[in-house]
Formats: sequence, structure tokens, C-alpha cells
Amino acid sequence: MTMLIAIKDIGNYVDQEVTVRGWVYDRTDKGRLQFILLRDGSGIVQGVAFKKEMAEDQFELASKLTQESSIIITGTVRVADQAKKSIPPGFEIGIKDLQVIQMTQDYPITPKEHGVEFLMDNRHLWVRSNRQWAILRIRATIIKAMRDWMDNNGFLLVDTPIITPAAGEETTTLFNIDYFGETAFLAQTGQLYNEANMGAFGKVYCFGPTFRAEKSKTRRHLIEFWMIEPEIAFCSLEELMDIEEALQVYIVEQVLAKHRTDLEIIERDISKLEKIASPFARISYDDAVARLQKLVAETDDPEQKELLAIEWGSDFGSPHETALAEMFDKPVFVYHYPSAVKAFYMQPVEGRPEVCRSVDLLAPEGYGEICGGSERISDYDTLLKKLEHDKLPVENYAWYLDLRKYGTVPHAGFGQGIERTVAWICGLPHVRETIPYARLLNRKYP
Ligand code: 4AD
Ligand code: MG
Repeated sequence: MTMLIAIKDIGNYVDQEVTVRGWVYDRTDKGRLQFILLRDGSGIVQGVAFKKEMAEDQFELASKLTQESSIIITGTVRVADQAKKSIPPGFEIGIKDLQVIQMTQDYPITPKEHGVEFLMDNRHLWVRSNRQWAILRIRATIIKAMRDWMDNNGFLLVDTPIITPAAGEETTTLFNIDYFGETAFLAQTGQLYNEANMGAFGKVYCFGPTFRAEKSKTRRHLIEFWMIEPEIAFCSLEELMDIEEALQVYIVEQVLAKHRTDLEIIERDISKLEKIASPFARISYDDAVARLQKLVAETDDPEQKELLAIEWGSDFGSPHETALAEMFDKPVFVYHYPSAVKAFYMQPVEGRPEVCRSVDLLAPEGYGEICGGSERISDYDTLLKKLEHDKLPVENYAWYLDLRKYGTVPHAGFGQGIERTVAWICGLPHVRETIPYARLLNRKYP
């Protein structure tokens, strides 16, 4: 009896007759031989249609198959060293029977080069391409690794709302929605609710989509992105860095263990990922500024001088983050940023309130900030003053202030953006390919 199989499992069926259902990725015409690359979502297999071994009308069909036609083939699995385009490589199917579900006409994405805007317009089809397929598979593993790590280390998944009455981050990037005549916002973060959940469960995390009306076009910013956010009771900034570090090491380990083929498809330099191990360097903002200023003083390149110029007190831009990251071959923590450039909820450093107990984790190779976190203000009066200082509507934060009234504890947490992480691990210069359907300043289609 013929087995219906997933291509990824093909190695278990050598010399057996199997059925595979999917789409034509490519076809090479050798006259009496047709090589049909068939993908089923789990892998790709070379199907060989040989005129002598098939009914005439079926071979006729096989020799007309177009890219992305949907078909079902039945045949015998063979080991074939030259079947290098198969994934897993080295197997082919000698086709005995072919059924065409739809003969596709004029598939817009051909093997020739296309511009990125064209491909983004056709994202609903582009996701079928080898490279995009590999990236999105790695993305799934990164998300699973993050969640597994949390679940295995005592964190409880507690979901946080997407429609919120108050800002969680900068008010300039809020998305307003009409909530039955009142204004509400799309969540920029789940953090504030995480802090409430932390009071109930100790160690929690949320994972979901977050929204920022970022009016800037950069390679690192999406309007809609996904974030994992842990929040931990009785946690210091140092302990928070330990958690972030262990998490990154685990993510990279999982991707390396499961995605050799996908990493090869996207031509990722694996040696860079193999270096990711504890410990990561931890430098203060003060130190980071000093290092950048030294770099500026020592460079002869006037463009670099201008790009990297920085005064104490300013936030880092992409060029600064890249230059700092290039000083290390692993992710690097930068802690104690100026309070003025960070969010309202961050704990001031004792005796030095102009800086806060914050930490950003910068990815190596110039992929920028992948995690942002901090100790939170746990004192009621300090938080109230900070809300007023930042001109936030205190009445909307009444519940958040409550958390500082009823058994407040020192606590800390961070957020890690999935897309920036995928960009780093896959070595992609732009985040638009790291998410199935990117929302960018100039794009919400498809
Ligand atoms: O540094 P951010 O803004 O921190 C927070 O949202 C905190 N409330 C998290 C927390 O402590 N629970 O964002 C955290 C991370 C960034 O390091 C980055 O990886 C990602 O989220 N991120 C973005 N990714 C893509 N597009 C954007 N517009 C992003 N903004 C932030
Ligand atoms: Mg940040």
C-alpha cells in the first residue's frame, strides 16, 4: 500500500512506494526525463518523470508542469547523491503516477531577480520561496526556544491585553483607537500588566504582538512586532542580565541544533553563532560613551567622526550601537543609561538619580538592541513623582500605583523583540523579512 508522507521524513522510506502532495518549485526539461522539484512545506524532493516508466498522457502532463502548480505524485523513493536540491538532500522519487490539481499560469515570482518592493507586494507568495521559508522556520524555533526556556525555568505565561487605556512606553509612538467613543491605545508593551501578574505569580512572561507608531523608516523598526517579556519579583539588574544571557545562549544552541540546512540556505556564517556562550561583557553607559569618544578621537574618517560623535546624556543611535557591538564578538550589555532617555518606570540608581537601573543587550555584528530591560520603581512616592514629572495622566495609572501600595517588592524585567533576534541570528540586514507580514511606515499590504 502506498504511504502518504511528509517530505522531511523521506529518508525512512527508501525503496518504498510513497505519495507526496504539494507544489512544483521548479522543473528541468531533459526531453524524455523531467526533473520536478516538489515542495510540500516540510521539505523539497526531486521527482523524476521518465517517459518509459509512465503512461503517455501522464508524462505529457509532467513535461508541461509550471512553477507552483499543485500536484500529487506517487512513486518509489531512491537514494540519489545528485539530488542536492532536495531537502533533506540525497533523495528522489521515481514518479509512477501524477495527478494535477491546478496547472498554475503566470506565477509572478520567477527564479530571476526581483526588486524588494515587488517581492514585498507579493509577500503572500514570496513566503513560499526557499530563503523566506528557511527564515520563517528559524523564527518559529526562536519563539519556541524562548517559550521553552521560560517554561522550564519557573516562569508562568500570563497574557496581557492588547487594548490598553494608558501608555507603557513613549507617548509619541502610541496608536489611538476609538473605543466606543473613548480613546484607547494598542499595547506598546505588556510590561505594566506583567508587573501586576508578577505580584500574583512571582515569575511571569507574556508573549504577543506590540505596536509602535514609529514615524521613522529604519532597518530595525516595525510598526507591529512581537515581543517576549519576562518580569521577576525580587530580581536585581545583575540577576536580570544573567537571565537574558542564559536565554540567548539557549536560543542560539537550539537554532544551531535544528537548522543547519536552513542556515545554509540563507548563507549564514555559522562560526559567528558558534561563539555565543557565557559570559557576555557588561559595560556601563558611562564606559560605553567613553569608548565611543575614544573611537571618535582616534579615527581619521570624517564621516565616522560625525556619525559616532556623542555627548554624555544622549541616547545611542544605530551607528553607536553598531560601533559598540563591534568591540565584542558576543552580545554586550550596556547598563545604567541616563534616566532622561529611558521610560518613566525605571528605578533611579541610588545616590545618582540622573542614571537608572536599565540595561540594553546589543547583538553582535551590528544588529542593534535586541533586549531592553530594567529594575522598576517599586516605591509609591518615587513612581508618583516620576509620572507627574513625565506629564503622564496619573488617573490612568491608579491600578499601576496600587501595586506599590500593597506589598511592593523590588522587581525587574525585560522585553526581547522577536524580529530583531531573527535578524541577528539569520544575519539579515532588514527586519522586513523576519516576520511573515511586515507592517512598515509605508506598508500594510498584503
Ligand atoms: O526597549 P523596549 O521599548 O522595551 C520595552 O518595551 C519594555 N517595556 C520591555 C520590558 O521591560 N518588559 O523594547 C524591547 C525590545 C527592543 O529591545 C527591541 O528588540 C524590540 O523590543 N523593539 C522593536 N522591534 C522592532 N520594531 C520596533 N519598533 C521595536 N521597538 C522595540
Ligand atoms: Mg529599548
